[in-house]
Amino acid sequence: MTLTLETRDLTIRFGGHVAVNKVSCTFRPGELTAIVGPNGAGKTTYFNLISGQLRPSAGDVLLAGENITGLTAPLRTRKGLGRAFQLTNLFPNLSVEENVRLAVQAASGVHYEMLRPWMKRRDLIERADAILDSIALGNRRAVAAAALSHGDQRKLEVALMMALEPKVFMFDEPTAGMSVDEVPVVLDLIGRLKQDQSKIILLVEHKMDVVRSLADRIIVLHNGQLVADGKPAEVIASPIVQEAYLGIAPGKTAA
Ligand SMILES: Nc1ncnc2c1ncn2[C@@H]1O[C@H](COP(=O)(O)OP(=O)(O)O)[C@@H](O)[C@H]1O
Ligand SMILES: [Mg+2]
Repeated sequence: MTLTLETRDLTIRFGGHVAVNKVSCTFRPGELTAIVGPNGAGKTTYFNLISGQLRPSAGDVLLAGENITGLTAPLRTRKGLGRAFQLTNLFPNLSVEENVRLAVQAASGVHYEMLRPWMKRRDLIERADAILDSIALGNRRAVAAAALSHGDQRKLEVALMMALEPKVFMFDEPTAGMSVDEVPVVLDLIGRLKQDQSKIILLVEHKMDVVRSLADRIIVLHNGQLVADGKPAEVIASPIVQEAYLGIAPGKTAA
């Protein structure tokens, strides 16, 4: 079974408000899909439904053909759905390095062994080091997770997600709140993840230049509905995106 992530008529209502409305979409390996749309369009809610933070009012989520709608978020993580913020296994008083090593260890399935403690596993340590370097946290390795700057905490979340080696990477505005010099580090990393053709990558991002440079495909959510889906150039040129992002009425062109 090839790895696909699929939502079928995925819907959630909050009271009378339909935040995600019958969204059907299939995501494939080797494809980075940007999810765009105005504030309140339902992008984060759609992620929450996929990763299991929220249960849908109707519809299904399928991973590699398996219906995972009934699974909890932690079980979905084990199936390979990676989402940065859901990493509740962060230890605020442990160092950055210790947090990443523990995540690598958890992902490797190596549990504590009396005679072979994890600290001795060179392969795990090297993997943790490689992740820290790739996300430019190498020089913060000794700092307690709780003492990191906001931008560095976001990077650590990405590092912990990478340690779990997910099949699906979900980034919800990964550069929000980062300083200008931190943004390229995260974008470079996502660009490098993309080179691994076996991964599905979903990226919610409102900066259109970022979307343009990274996305293979763009889907647009508007009032909870999927209103556009296609190649970046086509979708960006579509009236709905022109209107939502540039404030131009449909039918008119950008000046
Ligand atoms: N837990 C919730 N309870 C009630 N309404 C919610 C909840 N989560 C999101 N919403 C509403 O659903 C809509 C979509 O929100 P959200 O998915 O956060 O949008 P986006 O990420 O596209 O900005 C908004 O109107 C928001 O107020
Ligand atoms: Mg959001």
